[in-house]
Amino acid sequence: MEKREFLTSLVVLILLLPYANATLPGPKSKKHFVLVHRACHGAWFWYKIVALMRSSGHNVTAIDLGASRINPKQVLDVQHLSDYFSPLIEFMAILPADEKVILVGHDYGGFAISKAMESFPEKISVAVFLTALMPGPNINASTVYNEDFVLATLLVRPLNIYPAEDYSKEIVLSRKRYGSVRRVFIVSPEDKFLKKEFQQWMIKNNPPHEVEEIQGSGHMVMMSKPLQLFTKLLGIAAKYN
Ligand SMILES: *[C@@H]1O[C@H](CO)[C@@H](O)[C@H](O)[C@H]1NC(C)=O
Ligand SMILES: *[C@@H]1O[C@H](CO)[C@@H](O)[C@H](O)[C@H]1NC(C)=O
Repeated sequence: MEKREFLTSLVVLILLLPYANATLPGPKSKKHFVLVHRACHGAWFWYKIVALMRSSGHNVTAIDLGASRINPKQVLDVQHLSDYFSPLIEFMAILPADEKVILVGHDYGGFAISKAMESFPEKISVAVFLTALMPGPNINASTVYNEDFVLATLLVRPLNIYPAEDYSKEIVLSRKRYGSVRRVFIVSPEDKFLKKEFQQWMIKNNPPHEVEEIQGSGHMVMMSKPLQLFTKLLGIAAKYN
């Protein structure tokens, strides 16, 4: 399985390279994508997307949230949600004031990018919720948060289970700040974790500027449909300059 996956990506990359080189972006159209993983996974999960973006000349940063993979903090040091989000928040804080990024959050990563939108709205050209939790000024984060769902991901890597009130305290989203950032939701119709009905419920209650869909995609869309996701993200980046 691993080997096959690797070989597939290699073939994809080789096929794509001439195309990527032919369309290398100039300094103006060069984008900076910031990818935020789901609970209990790490930056490595985006490796296919990272390779595709790098080979096409864009800047890409895959964040490891607190106690995820190579982040040196251990799980017990990550006592508060704010500690968990801090790698992304610190990254955004040191980003030069004149630089805008495209934030992409997958599932639980939606909480982290929401927090970043509220804290640094002027540094984000567009926020992409990839089958992600999407709280908003009208949807309490503790409502969106679903403990069963977080527990289900514990098989991969332990994450502190934060109490529901932590979510509503830590993730307070205003129309003025969070609401000023352009937002796109990418639906994964075959997602078994974040069911399509739930994705649509968030979209209905907290309408983004645009809704996209990657046909036939399940939860791990960056693994199963990397090219489609890559193309979609480039399209979104070009549109929301
Ligand atoms: C990517 O963006 C970061 C943050 O602005 C910057 O430090 C880094 O040099 C950039 N890398 C490339 C390859 O442009
Ligand atoms: C969000 O939930 C918390 C309790 O978890 C509550 O105190 C707060 O009033 C709620 N906020 C909204 C906007 O519903």
